[in-house]
Amino acid sequence: MENDFYEMITATVSHDMRTPINAIMGLIQSLDQFVTQNIGKRLLGIVNNSSKILLFLVNDILDFFQLKNGKFKIKLEKIEIRKPVLELIDMFLLVAKEKSIELKYEFDENLPKLLIVDQQRIKQILINLISNSLKFTLQGQIKIFVRYDQSQKLIWIRVSDTGVGVKVEDEIKLFKLFGKLESSQALNTKGIGLGLNICSKVVEACGGNIHLDTGYKNGASFEFSILAYENEDQLPKIIGR
Ligand SMILES: Nc1ncnc2c1ncn2[C@@H]1O[C@H](COP(=O)(O)OP(=O)(O)OP(=O)(O)O)[C@@H](O)[C@H]1O
Ligand SMILES: [Mg+2]
Repeated sequence: MENDFYEMITATVSHDMRTPINAIMGLIQSLDQFVTQNIGKRLLGIVNNSSKILLFLVNDILDFFQLKNGKFKIKLEKIEIRKPVLELIDMFLLVAKEKSIELKYEFDENLPKLLIVDQQRIKQILINLISNSLKFTLQGQIKIFVRYDQSQKLIWIRVSDTGVGVKVEDEIKLFKLFGKLESSQALNTKGIGLGLNICSKVVEACGGNIHLDTGYKNGASFEFSILAYENEDQLPKIIGR
């Protein structure tokens, strides 16, 4: 009973937070035309990108409740698959630069140009993984690699960093609710350990998987997949129609 009340408050608060965040983002757009100096434009860019990330995180919390209540929806659309990935890299570029961390990406040569996917979900999971990598990496680089598995109809995205890393035996803990690891506690005073738990539920709902890439020695590497189709005939009847 107490839990239900707590959940209702959290869901309502995160829902209501979207309105002011959207207002802030609108204002940033309007403000842009009045800012002429480069430094001003740069700072405004950081505020803009941070608001976008904040909006995604608020949506994360809402998803958490929708997943719990079976109301989670998947929105499939045919898109240029490189686009959401590039948009996100653009969003994080300034934050990475401030920390002197290089943000790199690579698209597999067999990655199709167009795919039918839920692009918001791709962005949402990538935001969590890139935010984590930025949080747990003090120097070096973060690299994103995108490939398509045609036989399984899965798009796979890997985020690797040169940060503090994760021990193989800690993998199960990471995806649990409030699964903060002691090894990274010092760098992570504000996190609550919700991000990866939501990611694992979202990828599962999207027919995919998320795991720690254990073959990776320096830093951490996470890889996730979600279902992605090359054409409409492949779509299962139950979703996206
Ligand atoms: N790239 C990474 N490098 C090292 N440790 C990581 C990395 N990503 C996640 N972890 C570990 O996994 C834990 C769980 O991650 P998760 O994203 O769920 O929570 P968080 O980032 O601590 O908080 P939140 O995402 O809720 O703000 C982290 O606290 C950290 O200990
Ligand atoms: Mg996190």
